[in-house]
Amino acid sequence: FQYPTPELQEELRKIAQAIVAPGKGILAADESTGTMGKRLQDIGVENTEENRRKYRQLLFSTDPAISENISGVILFHETLYQKADDGTPLVGLLEKRGIIPGIKVDKGVVPLFGSEDECTTQGEHDLDRAQKVTEVVLAAVYKALSDHHVYLEGTLLKPNMVTAGQACKKTYTPMDIGRATVTALLRTVPAAVPGVTFLSGGQSEEEASVNLNAINTVDLKRPWALTFSYGRALQASVLRAWAGKTENVLPGQQELLKRAKANGQASQASTSP
Ligand code: 13P
Repeated sequence: FQYPTPELQEELRKIAQAIVAPGKGILAADESTGTMGKRLQDIGVENTEENRRKYRQLLFSTDPAISENISGVILFHETLYQKADDGTPLVGLLEKRGIIPGIKVDKGVVPLFGSEDECTTQGEHDLDRAQKVTEVVLAAVYKALSDHHVYLEGTLLKPNMVTAGQACKKTYTPMDIGRATVTALLRTVPAAVPGVTFLSGGQSEEEASVNLNAINTVDLKRPWALTFSYGRALQASVLRAWAGKTENVLPGQQELLKRAKANGQASQASTSP
């Protein structure tokens, strides 16, 4: 094997650090065509390439102040080739705002080979179980990255928060979630990793912000930046406000600014232990 060149290592390290700069996180706008269809259906908008283009244009043409709290955007393949009304590539809108574009490289979920209809994210578990499974998964991830000689300083981890399943009867406070999440990370994620950017995973916008705040507040060590890479928790209000109507583009963008700011603040709650 070959390690990446020092120049490439430096570039990767800089990108990773810029993404998790204080108060910043990622907008996950990488919904596949099918997933975007579900989001658009919720607001009564047809899932056409043109409507997906218009929606992503709304997101990426938000007031440049957005870049105070959004450092990177994850794109779906199709978006890479789409243009704004004035012909600017959508990616160009991000670049103008100093936002780093990235692309989803996985091709969606597939049934687990060798399992009997096994599902991966059901609501059958309490917080302790979620923490244990997260630890097992992350330990395997970092063993594999070590086996493959991956340059950790040039990477970010995008995991779940440790939360109880949706059907779990026990209730937990954001601090419980924060403690379980940071504990699982401390046990498995090397300190060489510059940042951890959580997905929202079906939490409400409010929960995702409050829990991120708790993660950055609990009395535990935090050798990495802990911030957001939210899809639904940055876009639910945007979609509702827009509802597919041109006259609602600005109100939609205002919702995005609001959520980005709240999450930027939550990522900086840190009171050092
Ligand atoms: P959610 O924040 O909606 O879970 O999606 C994030 C994600 O994984 C997409 O990249």
